[in-house]
Order: sequence, then structure tokens, then C-alpha cells
Amino acid sequence: MTAYSDILLDTPHNGVQLIRLNRPEARNALRNTLLGELADALQNAARDEQIRAVVITGSDQVFAAGADIKEMAALDAVGLWKDPRPTYWKAIRTFPKPLIASVNGYCLGGGMELAMHADIIIAGEDAQFGQPEINLGIIPGAGGTQRLIRTVGKALAMRLVLSGEFIPARQALTAGLVAEVTQPELTLKRAIALAESIASKSPVAVRLAKEAILAGFETSLSQGLELERKAFLFLAATEDRQEGINAFLEKRPPQFKGQ
Ligand code: CAA
Repeated sequence: MTAYSDILLDTPHNGVQLIRLNRPEARNALRNTLLGELADALQNAARDEQIRAVVITGSDQVFAAGADIKEMAALDAVGLWKDPRPTYWKAIRTFPKPLIASVNGYCLGGGMELAMHADIIIAGEDAQFGQPEINLGIIPGAGGTQRLIRTVGKALAMRLVLSGEFIPARQALTAGLVAEVTQPELTLKRAIALAESIASKSPVAVRLAKEAILAGFETSLSQGLELERKAFLFLAATEDRQEGINAFLEKRPPQFKGQ
């Protein structure tokens, strides 16, 4: 397995790869090395048929404190333009398997944007979400303005981005930003259990379901319905669909193979 400095990879278990952000001295700030390693780990996970879902987590105190401000400070406009970060974000954005973020503590700036790249966010009661870039005289740079309005609507998106104020996990839940709130000590356990449950489903169906839901962010309803229909028809040709239906009729658990 590749050796990384800023992330830790647990041995995959029950089809789930756990990735831990690991820069405690900088509150998991997303320097280029970290983002590049994350992109690489996800590209490897995408290729590995044994891995069917990925969980990303931080520490008990912080998921991630955003872009690395010290690294960012050294870059002028041209430096930022040449920066490899957009390539890394693209690799995260296009990861085709389910991605779950397990969030405790601070989830700020680029850290919140990373969490929003996940398909599902599970948050501990202690989690705090915010886009404090405005306090630095900048704005979110990894999709925060666009994903927030599509996820929580204009009122809260404006409040978070213009004021830099944080919201607690419960409010993030009500706003639709996070899927579930847990006791802080149970967040990772729950995220892994959910990932394992998803990993036991048909990987083909899971992948197409993710693709169809994400397409809903960008397409019209009629185009989205068309895409869903085609994916639904495609799945009729899979062995997993036959297995799922047979298992139901035979009153046994299904064994999905991804075919
Ligand atoms: N970048 C670089 N270093 C950071 C950092 C960041 N985003 N956040 C924290 N650190 C560093 C601190 O500089 C400090 O380092 P030193 O010990 O060398 O001084 C160390 O981590 C510990 O930080 P604190 O003492 O501040 O820790 P805390 O527990 O008291 O507070 C915190 C934690 C609330 C997260 C606070 O560190 C903080 O507010 N961080 C900055 C949050 C922020 O502004 N994020 C937006 C970044 S810009 C961005 O993300 C752009 C984008 O959209 C891509």
C-alpha cells in the first residue's frame, strides 16, 4: 500500500476503506500534499474491486480547518492559477463509489467543502460547520458557494458565506447538510456501519444510483428522469438484479457480485 504522510489508510474491511486526515498539528488543514494524497487514495479505491465504499474522517476535535492558510498565503494569482488543487478536487468529485464523511469538531472552509464532496455526512453532536473565508478577505474556493445554495438554500448559504458564522450539527441536520447526527463518540462507528451496509448492495446499482442523484444537481427534471430511466433499464441486464430478485423470492440474503 502507498505510504502517505498526511492521510492514514486503514486496511479495508467488509468492502470499506477508511481514510483518516492526519495533520493534527495544523488541524488537518488541507495543504496540497494532503489533497493530492486523498485524490490518489480515492483513485486507487476506485480501481480496487474489493473496495465498495469509502469513509473519510478527521480527529475527535477537527474534521478539517480548511485550506492551509500558510500555504495559500505564499501564492499570488498566477501561483493559484498554476496550483494543482483543482485537479485534486476533480478526482474527489468524480470518485464513483459511495463516499461518506464522518465529522466531529470543526468542519470549516475547504474542510466543509470536502465534507460536501461526500455523498453522505454523518456528524457528531459536537460538529461545527462554517465557511469562515470571508474573515480572510476571500471566498470559498472549492465549490462552497455553489454546493451550499443547492444543499441548504439561499438564506443559510448567504448567512454562512457572508458572515463566516458557524452552525452546530443539529442545525446542519435541519438544513439538510448532514444526513444524521450521532453522539460524538459514535460518529465513526455509525459512518462505517452505514458504509458497510451500502458495500453489501449491488455495486453496479449503487454506482448508478449515485450518478443519477448527483446528476440531479445539474440537469433539468426531464433530463434527470431520462438518465434515471436509462440507468434503470441498464440494471435489468445485470446478474445482480437477478440475484436480488431471486434472493427475495427464495427468502435468503442476496450475494451481489457487481456483474
Ligand atoms: N491553515 C493552516 N494552519 C492552520 C489552519 C489552516 N486552515 N487552521 C489551524 N491551523 C494551525 C494554526 O496556525 C496553529 O498552528 P501553530 O501551532 O503553528 O500556530 C495550529 O493549527 C493550531 O491552531 P489553533 O491554535 O487556532 O487551534 P484551535 O483548536 O484553537 O482552533 C480552529 C481551531 C477554530 C480550526 C482555528 O485554528 C481556525 O479558525 N482555523 C482557521 C479556519 C479557517 O479560516 N478556515 C478557512 C481556510 S481558507 C479556505 O478553506 C479556502 C477554501 O475554500 C479552499
